[in-house]
Amino acid sequence: MQPAAIQQADTPIVTARKLTKQFGSYRAVDGIDFDIAPGKCFGFLGPNGAGKTTTLRMAMGLTPVSSGELTIFGLAVQRHAAEIRARTGIIPQADNLDPDFSVEENLAVYASFFGLGGPEIDARIDTLLDFVALGERRKAKPDALSGGMQRRLTIARALINEPELVVLDEPTTGLDPQARHVIWGRLTELKSRGKTLLLTTHYMEEAERLCDELVIMDHGRILAQGSPRDLIEQHVETDVIEVRGEGDTLRELARQSGCRLEQMGNSLYCYTQNPAPLIEQLKDRHALRFVHRPAGLEDVFLRLTGRELRD
Ligand SMILES: Nc1ncnc2c1ncn2[C@@H]1O[C@H](COP(=O)(O)OP(=O)(O)OP(=O)(O)O)[C@@H](O)[C@H]1O
Ligand SMILES: [Mg+2]
Repeated sequence: MQPAAIQQADTPIVTARKLTKQFGSYRAVDGIDFDIAPGKCFGFLGPNGAGKTTTLRMAMGLTPVSSGELTIFGLAVQRHAAEIRARTGIIPQADNLDPDFSVEENLAVYASFFGLGGPEIDARIDTLLDFVALGERRKAKPDALSGGMQRRLTIARALINEPELVVLDEPTTGLDPQARHVIWGRLTELKSRGKTLLLTTHYMEEAERLCDELVIMDHGRILAQGSPRDLIEQHVETDVIEVRGEGDTLRELARQSGCRLEQMGNSLYCYTQNPAPLIEQLKDRHALRFVHRPAGLEDVFLRLTGRELRD
């Protein structure tokens, strides 16, 4: 942990300025700026194709930066990829465990890529397998593990070099709620040990629980940035009333509601600071069903990126 001790407490761990990635004529990342403070969890949210993985891959030196600046630990990624990798843990979007090796061998082989081995690393493997609750499966091959176990193994593998920065591309996609909660617990523990986390996710609950700061990206650009609470306060009203019903009744309500409205098929989303009058109206309209809830990050996300499908 020597380098972290030298790093100034308020110096960002990651800094991007006008960061751009061009694939031929297509600009996947379009001049984005962000800073990630040490010990914080920084999240990237965005629809499919927004440019999240591409940004992470540039940070890890896995794909070249087309233009702009990207520094990690104060080092430019273009010139210091190996040093940055040695101080970073990576959990890619798709698990890429070696199917021919057992759980513990996957960790040992990965350690050897960093020139790490010997009794100290054997002990670290034991500790990491306990950390991700895989001690009893240490002799199993990855194919014999569930998706959640494979994800936990990938997380353990990313920690083998005791990284200061951990980069996670959709750490819990496709996992059941139990597995997701276990991983959230582990990531929270890493943060409490002072590690900096950089993650992407499609789960708003994950972002709200883990992230100190977030950006919402679309088409390679940052649309909004802030803490989950700030984003909700700045971009949507406090309350949402979701109303379901037939077209005519819904249209009539829409005209009278006095709310900011978003419609998807037979559902009307009424955004307001003052929900009481609409709730009063709805009590007498038995043809309509409604749910009243506080606005959340998903409402911000949908407002900024739209409700149309992305492919
Ligand atoms: N190697 C590549 N060559 C050409 N285009 C690419 C390449 N990698 C990514 N892209 C394009 O760049 C855009 C951004 O992709 P990226 O994988 O960064 O999106 P993402 O935000 O991670 O999406 P998802 O949520 O689906 O993982 C997409 O349009 C994608 O098709
Ligand atoms: Mg991605």
